[in-house]
Amino acid sequence: MQTKMKLDKVALITGGASGIGLAIAEKLYMAGCQVAIADIDEQKAQSAIDSIETREGQKKMAVQVDLSDFLSIRQMVATCEEELGAVDILVNNAGFQHVAPIESCDPATFQKLIEVMLVGPFVATQAVFAQMKQRGWGRIINISSINGKIGAPFKAGYCSAKHGIIGLTRVTALEAADSGVTCNAICPGYVDTPLVRNQLADLAKSYRLEETEVLDEAILRNVPQRRLLEAGEIGDFAVFLTSDRAAAITGQAINVSGGYVMH
Ligand SMILES: NC(=O)c1ccc[n+]([C@@H]2O[C@H](COP(=O)([O-])OP(=O)(O)OC[C@H]3O[C@@H](n4cnc5c(N)ncnc54)[C@H](O)[C@@H]3O)[C@@H](O)[C@H]2O)c1
Repeated sequence: MQTKMKLDKVALITGGASGIGLAIAEKLYMAGCQVAIADIDEQKAQSAIDSIETREGQKKMAVQVDLSDFLSIRQMVATCEEELGAVDILVNNAGFQHVAPIESCDPATFQKLIEVMLVGPFVATQAVFAQMKQRGWGRIINISSINGKIGAPFKAGYCSAKHGIIGLTRVTALEAADSGVTCNAICPGYVDTPLVRNQLADLAKSYRLEETEVLDEAILRNVPQRRLLEAGEIGDFAVFLTSDRAAAITGQAINVSGGYVMH
């Protein structure tokens, strides 16, 4: 999906050093945005920024952040504002996976999943919301998951956070509805990124499968298109949501999942 219009905006993408976040950052930069990649891994964030081909007159930067730390999130927004200007587009993307049955899932890990993928996006939204509304234009995109719509065994914390962020998306959309600011959630299916590749061993253990079987038996068996998605497919859709042509789309949780989930 292509938007012809040049997006002359400032975009801040959390977890942008890898996978889906990096694809969104690249696509937004290619669409004309100034881009800040924020990530807990500062070096990886800098390499990610360096990997995007520089265009004249368009700035890009890396910033370190820990999405489980309120002060760090506020500092991320302040740094981005100082270097690039007020944030027009916020993509709450940072996340991680933890696979374990409820009986053996450490509550501290459950809490961390909620902090990084639900509380952090709330604090980041709070840090940009007032100025977006005052300026009369803004786009907030929350990266949820099909696991925000359906449960998955052994992913209690992840599913809880991803369901929760759809609620946050709807409230944010309603509170911004008269201001030119939209908020939507993208719910990807399985995308070929380190987050998916790194969970295969734990999934194999939990499902009692061989690691070579788990992709077909525990993952692709549920996906009508029978494939892992490419991160760029999520990136293209995110760019569309930031465009003026998507101004009427708000408060939605939209699946990009190869047909996995249809509600
Ligand atoms: N890959 C998939 O199949 C898939 C499907 C649905 C949703 N998602 C969601 O998409 C988002 C991106 O996932 P991905 O697959 O690209 O994973 P990824 O592992 O490639 O990238 C995640 C990034 O988040 C960063 N991060 C992790 N914890 C952080 C923290 N506390 N503070 C700041 N940054 C932190 C990591 O360093 C990493 O760069 C996540 O929210 C994930 O839940 C992914």
